[in-house]
Amino acid sequence: MAMEVLYPFFLCLAVLTGRAVSAPPHSQCHDNPPDMTAARVEAGKVVHDFAGYTAYVTGAMTNLRPTLAGSYMEASSGPIGRRKIADKIGEAGYYVVVPDFFNGQPLTGAPGENLTQWLSEHSPVKAAQDAKPIFATLRKERKFSLGVGGYCWGGKFAVEVAKMNEVKAVVISHPYSVIVGDMREVKCPIEILGGEYDQATPQKFIYQFLNALRKRSDKIPYFGKIFPGVCHGFACRYNVTNPFEVETGEQALALMVGWFEKHLK
Ligand SMILES: *[C@@H]1O[C@H](CO)[C@@H](O)[C@H](O)[C@H]1NC(C)=O
Ligand SMILES: *[C@@H]1O[C@H](CO)[C@@H](O)[C@H](O)[C@H]1NC(C)=O
Repeated sequence: MAMEVLYPFFLCLAVLTGRAVSAPPHSQCHDNPPDMTAARVEAGKVVHDFAGYTAYVTGAMTNLRPTLAGSYMEASSGPIGRRKIADKIGEAGYYVVVPDFFNGQPLTGAPGENLTQWLSEHSPVKAAQDAKPIFATLRKERKFSLGVGGYCWGGKFAVEVAKMNEVKAVVISHPYSVIVGDMREVKCPIEILGGEYDQATPQKFIYQFLNALRKRSDKIPYFGKIFPGVCHGFACRYNVTNPFEVETGEQALALMVGWFEKHLK
């Protein structure tokens, strides 16, 4: 069956999700979709030409506290489901931009969707190059010191950005398609948050990333944590009625904000 071919790495352990063992395979990337029918209270707004991108913009546009003066850009699978996270980072004193790098064509997880095809059309490596005007705009407008937080696809995006001299810190949470070699090329402080049962980036990969960072002769600050008992998506796409998952998500957020507080000076 096509799904099995396309998403072999994303299977979540049945025992953890409570899914029946016979449940069809699925991508963890699409678990816990945001409820788009629920009334949303959003702090920010959608702008249609942010350096050429449609973007959700939120957070401290004025009264930036000096120690928090930084901006944060989240790259993720489309702006909609991530707005809540963006608002929370905004509440911590940041100006947050969530560009839609997918031009309104996010991966949806629909049956028959071709992941290979989609990734070739929405390469995080290319997106990082294309994002340069966004960084330039942010620097010009407000002299921000910039950081990037990336989830899943955005994790690879953030790592690619970290290889350029564009930002001062990155945080990657349950990344997708990041490889050990990437860790030898990042140029800024990096925080890596993994999930014990993440099938996209299993915890042994996280240990390999940290090992590669530790072995570098030019020491760059890094931090890693593997959250127990959670799958891919734990930092931004968790089950909001499950207290354990909510607590984990909040912890991941706090660690990310802490990393930016420390490095976006
Ligand atoms: C998915 O897309 C790739 C690249 O375009 C193609 O080679 C492959 O045959 C497609 N797979 C399916 C199942 O359609
Ligand atoms: C979310 O968590 C609640 C409480 O643990 C549980 O009853 C529910 O089945 C979960 N929903 C999903 C989609 O896993």
